[in-house]
Amino acid sequence: MKMRTRNLLAVLAITLLFTACASEKQLEEIIQQSNEEETTTLEESTQPDEPVVALPGLPDDVAGYTQWLKLNAEPIPPAPGGDPHNGTKNVHVNQTRDTIAPNGIQQFPYPDGSIVVKEASRPGKDYVGLIAIMRKKAGADPDHNDWQFIEYVRNAPDAEFSVIAEGRSCWGCHAGVKDIDYVFTELD
Ligand code: HEC
Ligand SMILES: *[C@@H]1O[C@H](CO)[C@@H](O)[C@H](O)[C@H]1NC(C)=O
Ligand SMILES: *[C@@H]1O[C@H](CO)[C@@H](O)[C@H](O)[C@H]1NC(C)=O
Repeated sequence: MKMRTRNLLAVLAITLLFTACASEKQLEEIIQQSNEEETTTLEESTQPDEPVVALPGLPDDVAGYTQWLKLNAEPIPPAPGGDPHNGTKNVHVNQTRDTIAPNGIQQFPYPDGSIVVKEASRPGKDYVGLIAIMRKKAGADPDHNDWQFIEYVRNAPDAEFSVIAEGRSCWGCHAGVKDIDYVFTELD
């Protein structure tokens, strides 16, 4: 929401600037150029067979996770007084709404093969700096509903992600929501 407002303000400021110092003709050219750019981007992003590439350092099976079903309707803000996954978060799963919430009511457990991906932008940063993943693999860990936990971090927008923690260090908290299959965030 804040970002959007900021972008809007930026556009407004630029528009005002151009109205002040560019002739009408120049302004038209600029608008036309930016329209052309927009069209190109749109066409590129709708190419059906364009490969979806994972962020650097992340496994291929989470490439394109931003297009999966998002569980939270609004970004999840940093938890006050300490946040295990410090930042503003979104949680995606590679399932459809109909599969996990038939008739609009979420069912548990998640189906075998589910992948839950949480991205977080660190407080004050505007790029994804943390990726936490839960993968459900039949037989992998019957004591924890067969979820495999792993978390990656990076400290710059173009840096590679690397593993920071996995497994045992993650169960402690997530066991607190065992009754909803270890996944805190419920489908909005
Ligand atoms: C100190 C408690 C705590 C620990 C330790 C912890 N988590 Fe979480 N995790 C949470 C809470 C609370 C949420 C939901 C709210 C949020 O995202 O801030 C969450 C959310 C998640 C989500 C999104 C799905 C969901 O449950 O809402 C994933 C994926 C995740 N954690 C993975 C991990 C992994 C991987 C580790 C270990 C590296 C880990 N967590 C360790 C508390 C914890
Ligand atoms: C979260 O990150 C911010 C900024 O990087 C830091 O100031 C704060 O101490 C962190 N909070 C926790 C609980 O780790
Ligand atoms: C989720 O991803 C896993 C691993 O790629 C795959 O096995 C599974 O079929 C996927 N599930 C759905 C519903 O796409």
